[in-house]
Amino acid sequence: MNPFTWRDGQLHADDVPVEAVAAAVGTPTYVYSATAIRASYRRLAGLFAPLGAKLRYAVKASPNLHLCRLLRELGAGMDVVSGGELERGWLAGTPMSEIVFAGVGKSEDEVRAALSGRFSPLREVAAAHGAPDPAGRGPVGLFNVESESELARLSKIATELGETARYCLRVNPNVDPHTHEYTTTGKEENKFGIDADRIVDLVSRWAGRPGLEFRGLHVHIGSPVPQVEPYAEAIAVVLGLVDELAALGHRVAVLNLGGGWPIPYTDGAVPPLEDYARRIVPLLAERAADGLQVLLEPGRSILGNSGLLLTRVEHLKRGRAKTFVICDAGMHVLLRPALYRAFHFVWPAAWTGPTPRWLEQSDLPGLESCDVVGPICETGDFLARGRRLPPLAQGDLVAVFSAGAYGISMASNYNDHGRPAEVLVDGERMLRINARQPLATILETERTAVDLAISGRPVPA
Ligand code: LLP
Repeated sequence: MNPFTWRDGQLHADDVPVEAVAAAVGTPTYVYSATAIRASYRRLAGLFAPLGAKLRYAVKASPNLHLCRLLRELGAGMDVVSGGELERGWLAGTPMSEIVFAGVGKSEDEVRAALSGRFSPLREVAAAHGAPDPAGRGPVGLFNVESESELARLSKIATELGETARYCLRVNPNVDPHTHEYTTTGKEENKFGIDADRIVDLVSRWAGRPGLEFRGLHVHIGSPVPQVEPYAEAIAVVLGLVDELAALGHRVAVLNLGGGWPIPYTDGAVPPLEDYARRIVPLLAERAADGLQVLLEPGRSILGNSGLLLTRVEHLKRGRAKTFVICDAGMHVLLRPALYRAFHFVWPAAWTGPTPRWLEQSDLPGLESCDVVGPICETGDFLARGRRLPPLAQGDLVAVFSAGAYGISMASNYNDHGRPAEVLVDGERMLRINARQPLATILETERTAVDLAISGRPVPA
């Protein structure tokens, strides 16, 4: 579903004109549709329901606490990759048992927090939302382990704490997901996972070591994965391992398929999720019926097209070679175009023509080719290049679509801009779920210089 539609010449998110959002909180602002989030969640959950699959929302896609809470209400557990995300998952009301802790570089402190359940600078916020007290939390449900060194760390800390670390090993199946090289994770030259041919030996050698309980396998080949077949290839590798392990008496109870389910950034660009489910479900149906617990870690497929970025035109500049639409959002707000040359459909919020198709180039009459850029002092700071757009003027509001995932989560303070506001629209309601970051919080940790070597006291100004 597309929750963003033009009505009476004004772009709406659900039933709220985005101009009203901009009037309330300014720009740049990320706007999410609760209706779309619910629909995308239910669609994906429904497609994999025949496997009894459980969803662990990839918090990194869009970590706002209120979005996590909405997803938790829908039944999601959380996939976290840092102590910070663990905190969010828990603050969203997720029981520790439904959190999976992934990531190649978990620190000792993060592992200790995840095993002891003792963390939280924000206990009172959690209590207000009914989250259990830290003492009663217990260890995280599963670790996705990415190396033997990490296994050793887990065993050591779990033993110290008298806890058990339940874990899946992340398999690197050496499969090409046909996505951007920076988000390819399942090829042998990538830093992620453990080579498939080392898994059986590793499980055997670590079986029975203190503080550890082997639960199963995890695989995540990349994001987004624009074709169905790489999943089937990765599943074939993993199922081979499941059988090998079973023959040696190591039961694989959990199979975590990761995320990577794509969204259309342009009309019809990727197969619908139904095609993925049609191919994948039969591969696992029998095993699931025999008790294999399937987990998925979706992020983009739930949030990506449930959110957009609102930005205002600061200046229009007609150069000899190009026309530049200079906006208040740039690479510091939405990094994907600069980092991956990712395509995001861009269109003015005020528009009375026919609904534009999300294509690299629109064929509507009266358009002008321009580069949509931000205020950052880099030539790589762009949102869209060589794009045919309706005539724009200073002060116009522009929407950047498909920005609900990996938008705010990759935003930065580059050039000392505060991070943007976030608004959740639900029918006719609009809720500010994140204030624009004030400059004071950026400068907070720089207030005073502390002389570490000599006295530990602040250096006089
Ligand atoms: N599980 C694991 C182990 C992951 O590494 C990721 C994403 C996910 C799940 C969620 O994947 P999703 O369902 O959202 O595709 N910044 C990039 C995407 C990086 C994805 C990182 N890992 C982008 O803007 O496209």
